[in-house]
Amino acid sequence: MGRYHYVFPRWTNLLLPGAIFMAMVAPLYVVYVVAYGFSPMTTDVGYAPDQVIEYSHKLHAGELGIDCRYCHNTVEYSAKASIPPTQTCMNCHTQIHKDSPKLEALRQSYEKGTPVTWTRVHDLPGYAYFNHSAHVNRGVSCVSCHGRVDRMDVVQQMQPLSMGWCLDCHRNPTENLRDPSEVTNLGWSFKGTEQELVDYHDFWQDHNNINPSQDCSTCHR
Ligand code: HEC
Ligand code: HEC
Ligand code: HEC
Ligand code: HEC
Ligand code: HEC
Repeated sequence: MGRYHYVFPRWTNLLLPGAIFMAMVAPLYVVYVVAYGFSPMTTDVGYAPDQVIEYSHKLHAGELGIDCRYCHNTVEYSAKASIPPTQTCMNCHTQIHKDSPKLEALRQSYEKGTPVTWTRVHDLPGYAYFNHSAHVNRGVSCVSCHGRVDRMDVVQQMQPLSMGWCLDCHRNPTENLRDPSEVTNLGWSFKGTEQELVDYHDFWQDHNNINPSQDCSTCHR
């Protein structure tokens, strides 16, 4: 007995409530994370890294009105949206502003055949699976997840991309559904009464039989 007292002095009893508290909270934390997806590392909202070329979506997608799919041409067919190769830019820039200093890195890339080193803005952890085509073809617009990219000079992360954020919409997607032909029209808005808008969203949900999965294996495979 005395020996145990020696190894664990009396004051260690004070730690016991703490240990019990931890034991109770750890599983709750897991449940909490699963239910809400909050984690201190998931909030990168506002991240907007500078790029090697000052490419502007506001100019190209907004003012010039180039469709998202001209450059992100796999967005409807695959998981990845894809970043365009130099050739796509050169379709225009062998003529337009062909001597501009702002396009020096683009010309270098073209001449050497090396890709432009764009810095990623959005980046889920490897254990989470996302698929663009599964959303875009079902009438979820880029704007729901990326905001008004067509007004951005520098792309900025607008949503947390946390599990809780994904699940919020998977539980109740209705308000994010529109005619799939309008998904790249970020400035689209419904013209009609409040009730007609509700009916419109319901129509696209029923029409495409939309019921997003909440199974772990949908996003963790
Ligand atoms: C003329 C080509 C072009 C068009 C049109 C275009 N983009 Fe991009 N997009 C790019 C390039 C190049 C990048 C990489 C550089 C950057 O992040 O600005 C990019 C990056 C992005 C990113 C960030 C990718 C990442 O790293 O996470 C998003 C989101 C995006 N575009 C959405 C859109 C949307 C939405 C539209 C349509 C409204 C659109 N783009 C139209 C060329 C284009
Ligand atoms: C339901 C949400 C959602 C919608 C809708 C969506 N995106 Fe994304 N986008 C994401 C997420 C999440 C990522 C990060 C994916 C990753 O890291 O694996 C991403 C990444 C990207 C990237 C970087 C390359 C890639 O595929 O990882 C581009 C470019 C992009 N999106 C463009 C678009 C365009 C253009 C549209 C509309 C046509 C669109 N996105 C619609 C959520 C969305
Ligand atoms: C469909 C044609 C088209 C495509 C494709 C295109 N651009 Fe442009 N870009 C333009 C036009 C037009 C302007 C000039 C607008 C003005 O000066 O009023 C411009 C301007 C620019 C500028 C500013 C140049 C300066 O000196 O002010 C940069 C940088 C640029 N583009 C980069 C890119 C990159 C990078 C890509 C590929 C991801 C790309 N562009 C694809 C048409 C295009
Ligand atoms: C704004 C709404 C919205 C957001 C945000 C959203 N989703 Fe979805 N998701 C949907 C809809 C709608 C579908 C299509 C469901 C259907 O076809 O019945 C879908 C389908 C999917 C599918 C395809 C499932 C299958 O059965 O093939 C995957 C994978 C997926 N989502 C992952 C994610 C991930 C990961 C995130 C967060 C990074 C996310 N989603 C965010 C609305 C959303
Ligand atoms: C609609 C997509 C989706 C579904 C369904 C989903 N997850 Fe996730 N989960 C994610 C994404 C995205 C992340 C990464 C968030 C981030 O960047 O931190 C994540 C992160 C996690 C993490 C790490 C938490 C952390 O601290 O970042 C755990 C654990 C997890 N998921 C477990 C689950 C379990 C268990 C289920 C089933 C009950 C589930 N997930 C269902 C999308 C999903």
